[in-house]
Amino acid sequence: MRQALGPRTSLMLVAKANAYGHGLIPVSRQAARSGVRWFAVAYVREAIQVRAACEDAQILVLGAVMPSDVRALLDHRLIPVVVDEAQGRALALAAASRGEVLQAHLKVDTGMGRFGVPWQEAVSVYEKLSREPGLEIAGLCTHFASVEPRKPSLGPEQMERFRGIDDQICRKSSTKLFRHVSSSRAFLYQPDWDLDGVRVGVAAYGYGTQGSGIRISTDPVLQWRTGVMQVKKVPANFGVGYYTTYTTPAPTTLATLAVGYVDGYHRALSSKGFVLICGRRCAVVGRVSMNWITVDCGADADVAAGDEAVLIGQQGGESIWADELARLARTIPYEILTSIHANCERHYISAPSLPL
Ligand SMILES: Cc1ncc(COP(=O)(O)O)c(C=O)c1O
Repeated sequence: MRQALGPRTSLMLVAKANAYGHGLIPVSRQAARSGVRWFAVAYVREAIQVRAACEDAQILVLGAVMPSDVRALLDHRLIPVVVDEAQGRALALAAASRGEVLQAHLKVDTGMGRFGVPWQEAVSVYEKLSREPGLEIAGLCTHFASVEPRKPSLGPEQMERFRGIDDQICRKSSTKLFRHVSSSRAFLYQPDWDLDGVRVGVAAYGYGTQGSGIRISTDPVLQWRTGVMQVKKVPANFGVGYYTTYTTPAPTTLATLAVGYVDGYHRALSSKGFVLICGRRCAVVGRVSMNWITVDCGADADVAAGDEAVLIGQQGGESIWADELARLARTIPYEILTSIHANCERHYISAPSLPL
């Protein structure tokens, strides 16, 4: 990604939701070691964890913060986004009452309808807030509702609104703001929107980068594995799981695995998901339960308790990735990855540092 970006654009790694399920501290530490200088998280408590891992990073808090957060923001040198005039004033007051100036980025709602100052009011809110002694608006950002390369989407209109605001602010003020608008899809399909930083999440973890016309492709970072706990040979017509939603059509081998919805394995994968055991795809049969799932390994399977089962990843020549599970569970890879419970044991294999 770094190589795809021009020298004036910073790569801002979105590390919220436990670094998309990958583990916030190890991921931010490794990213910092590989040259990432900007991190974006949702909450102050996540930002504090990133600060502990990366002493000199720039850390942006994407969610709306409260005046009661100002002490932590200043103490840990964190950058909040200002989402409206009243919140901006309240943050400014809280910082001024400590005799300090809080650096912040102004979030413009150009059409996402979530956080931010409505685009029609953004210039006047910027002007008012930049007069507050406790606040320094150092950046300007927005977030796209949709970026679709071959279909109509709101992205281009949002970008036009953003550029209009940026131009007006540029003309009225001498301050050079740090501007960032693109998340993964805009980064992949709209290089002309890079501006000063791109806030990439899912593509950095290896998803959403397949397809034609994209700028770079990335591989999934995370594999999720568990163990086989019990194996049994069963006859045809053998019922499996709560409410017996599945019965075996023929004699087969069932394996029960140590994973369930408590770990973040979606219940929607009941009788829909697949896992890899002994390099073969085995169907999840019956309902996903709290701690366990049962899979059908086939009549001829040579599987034993203690064998490894891959929930996300590759084994032998087979693979199953979060985007496939997402399709089966009728969700998106983001939800599959961020659902993996923080308590699941994580092992990190460091890649060699890449030249940046
Ligand atoms: C404000 C903001 N910026 C950037 C991102 C990163 O998005 P993506 O993972 O699609 O790159 C998100 C993700 O939810 C976000 O909320």
